[in-house]
Amino acid sequence: MSSLQTLESEEVDLNASLHGNWTLENAKARLNQFFQKEKTSAEYKYSQVGPDHNRSFIAEMQLVVRQLGRKVTAREHGSTKKLAAQSCSLSLVRQLFHLQVLEAFSGPPRRGEGQPLEVFEVQVPADLQQQLVGVVQALGVLVPPAPADPSQPVSLVQGKLASFEPAPRQSGAGVVPWSPPQVNWNPWTSSNIDEGPLAFCTAEQISRDLQEELLLQQEHDLNLQKAHAVVLVRGPTGCGKTTQVPQYLLDSFIRGGRASDCNIVVTQPRRISAVSVAERVSFERGEEVGRSCGYSTDFLMVVLRDVVQAYPQVRVLLMSATIDTSMFRDYFFNAPVVEVVGRTFSVQGTRPP
Ligand SMILES: Nc1ncnc2c1ncn2[C@@H]1O[C@H](COP(=O)(O)OP(=O)(O)OP(=O)(O)O)[C@@H](O)[C@H]1O
Ligand SMILES: [Mg+2]
Repeated sequence: MSSLQTLESEEVDLNASLHGNWTLENAKARLNQFFQKEKTSAEYKYSQVGPDHNRSFIAEMQLVVRQLGRKVTAREHGSTKKLAAQSCSLSLVRQLFHLQVLEAFSGPPRRGEGQPLEVFEVQVPADLQQQLVGVVQALGVLVPPAPADPSQPVSLVQGKLASFEPAPRQSGAGVVPWSPPQVNWNPWTSSNIDEGPLAFCTAEQISRDLQEELLLQQEHDLNLQKAHAVVLVRGPTGCGKTTQVPQYLLDSFIRGGRASDCNIVVTQPRRISAVSVAERVSFERGEEVGRSCGYSTDFLMVVLRDVVQAYPQVRVLLMSATIDTSMFRDYFFNAPVVEVVGRTFSVQGTRPP
């Protein structure tokens, strides 16, 4: 992309209407007005990022908002100093708008509003394309096929939008400033949430949706567990099979007033991991090892298939990141499978020179 196209793409803002129609073009002037009226001021603090041939800028500003009795901060990135400062003032003005310190923008709509964006060709080298395909596959993203009629839009969102990964944006000094929960504000990244549906939801809606989702999922999984002697759980490594699932079952018995009916035995392939899992789970429950959770290392994986047939009240959960579900399914009389979604991120190793 040429630098002009980079600039233009930075100025594209399809979400301005969510944020009181404040944009890169009108926010800086409003912020200056605010300073004049409040008889205060604040400076942009600039820093440079990136190598010489690809230099870009960060502008930061913190201002005291008398009406709120607290500070509001923004830290934004741009390909030029000017754009970084504009983005920073935009972030502040949008925050002040959402905090009801500033009104919505009432001037004439920005140039080009409502017009379709120009299409421009992007040349992606073949090896980069290959890498992108690899990433898309590794993330398990379903890419819908291109539409027969290219003028028809196709949603890239396949299936239900259920979980939101936190954006891995870095906060300056590695310190997240405290801020109370606010609609449309991501405190981890100190920026507005621009993408729906979170950008439109009230805090109450978000809480209710999360609660409903959790209750539905728990009900579904617990019903499976009650109805079947053997359930297979497959989920990526680190998703919480070992440390979370047993607690989740125990908690459901505790809530049902039947905790003493529940004995959960967790097996691990090694003694050391059995000990550390027990320590971890006890820590999470705020207890000493040996209270509601302990370990015994002489437990043998007896012939489970016979056990579940001999003792109908025994329930077996087979949990693995790499389980061949069809094979186990057949072995355990068509046991149902619960797939758990994980949140693991690939780690790249580098060797010091
Ligand atoms: N002792 C610990 N201290 C801190 N975090 C821990 C500890 N043990 C586990 N965790 C974290 O808890 C999460 C869930 O771990 P858990 O062992 O339950 O995953 P798992 O699904 O059983 O993974 P695997 O397939 O590797 O067995 C992981 O993200 C892990 O990093
Ligand atoms: Mg495990």
